[in-house]
Amino acid sequence: MSATYTAITTLNTGAKLPLVGLGTWQSQPNEVYEAVLTAIKAGYRHIDTAWIYGNEKEVGQAIKDSGVDRQSLFVTTKLWNNAHSPQDVEKALEHSLKNLQLEYLDLYLMHWPVAFKSGASAVPKDADGKVELSPVDYTETYAAMEKLVGDRVRAIGVSNFTITKLQRLLKTAQITPAVNQVELHPYLPQTELLDFCKQNKIHVTAYSPLGSTSGPVQQEPVILELAKKYNVEPAQVLISWAVKRGTSVLPKSVTASRIVNNFNEVPLTAEDVAAIDAIGTNNPPRRVVDPSASWGSDIYDAGAKL
Ligand SMILES: NC(=O)c1ccc[n+]([C@@H]2O[C@H](COP(=O)([O-])OP(=O)(O)OC[C@H]3O[C@@H](n4cnc5c(N)ncnc54)[C@H](OP(=O)(O)O)[C@@H]3O)[C@@H](O)[C@H]2O)c1
Repeated sequence: MSATYTAITTLNTGAKLPLVGLGTWQSQPNEVYEAVLTAIKAGYRHIDTAWIYGNEKEVGQAIKDSGVDRQSLFVTTKLWNNAHSPQDVEKALEHSLKNLQLEYLDLYLMHWPVAFKSGASAVPKDADGKVELSPVDYTETYAAMEKLVGDRVRAIGVSNFTITKLQRLLKTAQITPAVNQVELHPYLPQTELLDFCKQNKIHVTAYSPLGSTSGPVQQEPVILELAKKYNVEPAQVLISWAVKRGTSVLPKSVTASRIVNNFNEVPLTAEDVAAIDAIGTNNPPRRVVDPSASWGSDIYDAGAKL
């Protein structure tokens, strides 16, 4: 039997982050409660959610019912795009804390470097169906998030930030983001971004590590071969590769057996890791999550190298 993950990293705040966490995007409220309970029982101590996932309440209830000490868990949630105005940021935090029934977050991330018109609608649209953006700059939003750091927010960070956007943010930030949470898998290894973040003491968390829903990366021949070699699921190979790269990683599942299996480490060798790395070198980068066109925002600095 393989061992469960124990790897942790130390963030630039000194906090300890368990490298494998449970993802909860698209985990429906009626399924996420069981998923979180199953995960915590299997040994996960890191849970990732977001206000926009619409499941903070169920995630929080499961955390409470798990009976595990709050201090042993690392909980992340994210500020949504419609709350980027500095006057909205604290209210958004309070709302998430209430949903989660928590006194504090371990990590509060700016979900996207994109501001929507502030207000009740999660994705405000004009009469033509176009998403209504706001001129609030992400550096202003981040400055408002910096004011939250303390008893209720142990660390802040960003998500979906490119090198260009991080460089710009670092010019005004008083607190270096603890984390940048981005899409990462063998089709999108983002090696330059990883190097940049390392140099700047920003930890990188890999999202959509399985290529998201029906991710074809799970069917890559190299991944299938390694899964066969170790008698594990292809997803487990992808998760272990992410951990070997020093990133934290957020596999999402609402299937109990997968949640358990995903938390079992695969003892990949340096040769195995190199074979998986080659998938990225031999294929053009492929992004799964890119709302740039539907939001009318140049999220990934079009034309910049992936
Ligand atoms: N910051 C951001 O903007 C952002 C964006 C995307 C994601 N995220 C975070 O990252 C997490 C993970 O990303 P993701 O949800 O896009 O996708 P993912 O974790 O790459 O893939 C999830 C999909 O893989 C399936 N799966 C899980 N374990 C499996 C296994 N062992 N074998 C086969 N299939 C398996 C899941 O199915 P079942 O659930 O049906 O088992 C689901 O369809 C999210 O949940 C969220 O917490 C953050």
